[in-house]
Amino acid sequence: MHPALARLAERLARVPALGAAELEAEHVAVLGRKSGELTALLKSLATLPLDERKAVGAEANRLRAGFEAAFEARRAEFAAEAGRAAWRGVDLTMPARRRWAGSRHPVTRVGDEITAIFRELGFVRATGPEAESEWLNFLALNFPPDHPAMDLHDTLYLGEAPGPEGRMLLRTHTSPVQVRVLREGALPVRVIVPGTVYRKDSFDPSHAPAFTQVEGLAVDEGISFVDLQATLAHFARALFGPETAVRFRPSFFPFTEPSAEMDVACRICGGTGCPACKGSGWMEILGCGMVHPQVLANCGVDPERYTGFAFGMGLERIAMNRFGIPDIRLLYDGDMRFLGQFE
Ligand code: DAH
Repeated sequence: MHPALARLAERLARVPALGAAELEAEHVAVLGRKSGELTALLKSLATLPLDERKAVGAEANRLRAGFEAAFEARRAEFAAEAGRAAWRGVDLTMPARRRWAGSRHPVTRVGDEITAIFRELGFVRATGPEAESEWLNFLALNFPPDHPAMDLHDTLYLGEAPGPEGRMLLRTHTSPVQVRVLREGALPVRVIVPGTVYRKDSFDPSHAPAFTQVEGLAVDEGISFVDLQATLAHFARALFGPETAVRFRPSFFPFTEPSAEMDVACRICGGTGCPACKGSGWMEILGCGMVHPQVLANCGVDPERYTGFAFGMGLERIAMNRFGIPDIRLLYDGDMRFLGQFE
């Protein structure tokens, strides 16, 4: 037996225990082209007597294949370990950080939800302009000409010359769209009307000079107050939850008779009374009523044949209630730290 063969076999047996740096040094020491021990042995084969050459050559080649495989396997172990180390301390169950791609404003979101609820009931969306005439905003809706809402004190009039339907103004509510829809004359109608409205108010925690309403109108033959109550109670439960208690209180609007306001059980205290509902346990959500026959007549609709109901609500108030927003001005500031909380 050639002495180098025994030494090399021992070295081969130690390869699986070598460290990373030792491994590379051993590779050079055994298989290096210039000074590798096995390389030298292979080169020296030609000098051996013929009978020895065959046996030593076969064994040396077997060792070479063994070293190559052993080096390769040990390197693969180091690579796998490095891969594991890179993940150590990384919590793979942690949710990924999502890139923030903007969000809907809370008022937009509430408005979308409300219109979706009414869309399921067959209401279609309608809109109207923000600059309206006195006729459309007030007089066709049965406001008497000396009604205080028409006062300069409450309404923003536009400085234009009066048109055929009186002075121009920024609409104070979305109700003029009722008149626009009815005047078109296609009956029956069921419309839901979101939009911005304007009043001469200053900003305070619960007022703003421009805000958002959603108006609704249903006119057909045979519509009764029961239809109004059932529709609006369904709406309240769809928006605030199936257990939500509602109540209707008599009220007054020039354009409806009878008129009512709908309350829902306070969402903060559940009805027991708290500062948010001023101790009453109820929150007022909307105004409503049966469309006044004079309004139908003003729009060219026969009040003997048709009846209907209407309702209107302010979205900022509903959004504040819904999301626990304490001051209406937060909805106007455009502060991304606030708005970014909403999906
Ligand atoms: N337009 C009313 C307001 O701005 C809200 C309203 C009340 C609308 C009763 C209606 C209604 O359609 O029937 O305060």
